[in-house]
Amino acid sequence: MTARFRLAAAVTATTVALTACSAPFSHSHVRPSPFTTHAPARVHVSTGAPSEDTNVAPLTVAAEHLHNESSWNAPRYTVQWPDFADAAGLSSALEDTVTRWKKNFVDASHSDSDSGQDADLSVVWEPVVNAAPLRGIRLTNHTTEAEVVTTTETVYGTTDETWHSIDLVAPTRRAALIDAVRRAAQQDAHVSTGSDVDAAKVFEDVTFDRTGTMIIRIPAGAIGPASAGLLTAEVSNPETYLSAAGRHVRDVAMKDAGHTTAPGSASPITPAETHTDCAKAKCIALTFDDGPGVATESILDTLQRTHAKATFFMLGPAVQAAPDTVRRMANLGMALGDHSWTHPQFPNLSNDQVTSEITRQADAVEKVTGQRPVAVRPPFGAFTSTTPHAGFPFVLWNVDTEDWKNRNADATTKRALDGAQRGAIVLMHDIRPSTAKALPGIIASLQHDGYTLVTIGDLIPTMKTDGA
Ligand code: NI
Repeated sequence: MTARFRLAAAVTATTVALTACSAPFSHSHVRPSPFTTHAPARVHVSTGAPSEDTNVAPLTVAAEHLHNESSWNAPRYTVQWPDFADAAGLSSALEDTVTRWKKNFVDASHSDSDSGQDADLSVVWEPVVNAAPLRGIRLTNHTTEAEVVTTTETVYGTTDETWHSIDLVAPTRRAALIDAVRRAAQQDAHVSTGSDVDAAKVFEDVTFDRTGTMIIRIPAGAIGPASAGLLTAEVSNPETYLSAAGRHVRDVAMKDAGHTTAPGSASPITPAETHTDCAKAKCIALTFDDGPGVATESILDTLQRTHAKATFFMLGPAVQAAPDTVRRMANLGMALGDHSWTHPQFPNLSNDQVTSEITRQADAVEKVTGQRPVAVRPPFGAFTSTTPHAGFPFVLWNVDTEDWKNRNADATTKRALDGAQRGAIVLMHDIRPSTAKALPGIIASLQHDGYTLVTIGDLIPTMKTDGA
């Protein structure tokens, strides 16, 4: 109620200001007017998401700053986000959004007995501006109940300042911009909009393309009926609507657009000759899912020191963000695996969506290392007889350390060693510090018992195809 009242008042004030601005007698009372020096803003609204502008330099983050929380318990979720050592405000803003989305999803799923095992939440991130010290990060929320619903938020930050998308629009101009967007929604997209509009919801994802056009992704239901879905407003010449922060972000985004992607494509890595004949050797395969993440480098240190091999089933955004860690894996002769982009449950997706989840990750691995992944591990081990494989073998596990749940080095060690047998595939996660802590003991014990620690690639020739 309060929000609606405030908005109505703001609209009136804005109208007055505009009238004053165009009246010849009041020119001396207004600031140097952008109206006289800039082409007028134009707003166009269309349904659906904007065409992707991917001309942003890749943003690399040390693996130890890549976070991933997931739960196999219903309702299942996986949330990925980065932190930045030199931008505490941006880091905590990202974590706040992720935490809020996670809580909303879990609370909603608990109160709705119809949703359960199949609901899932996947949160991924991408840079929209990457020109240190200014970075802009979009978080994307894919929630699946009956269908996949996508919402996004973009946050900007420098070393000492943080802006949510709404901060890019001048507070005194938000109501006028919402008005212009509502008119354009009606005219361009034939979406009728209500008057009860929450500015905070409309301006959750504001970005700029290389020409300086402001692009607003408006979530379903924020200005029109939810059935109209996501709307995209493009504001050309947005000058008059921008705050000082907005102008700064726009200027940097336009300069940043000069970057083309691929900072020196990686020369292909030829891994050290590591083939082990598992028909002869007593092989066991350790596998690490969901990284690269906070524990990956420490795990690689241990594997390197003990001359052990392992397989990493990685998520696309983390591969893209931590290419040095992925190249280190390849150089050490570790096998690179595909664990999708957003970590969804494949049975919730269309075949095209599954294929895209797999191939987008595989392309990222190839771009960084010159190698294609050796296999796919479907997130949560979930797939059906009709799930497409995109040309890769699906590899599950037969020893589950439950390290994601116990988060305890002793419990993880016990489950790994209790389940160990020739040919076993052990499931662990390189996003858990407790797993990194358990690893030296697990490897010492296995090697003492005569096991050779190999990659999935070594084990595949001895594996039987199971079911589909
Ligand atoms: Ni996983």
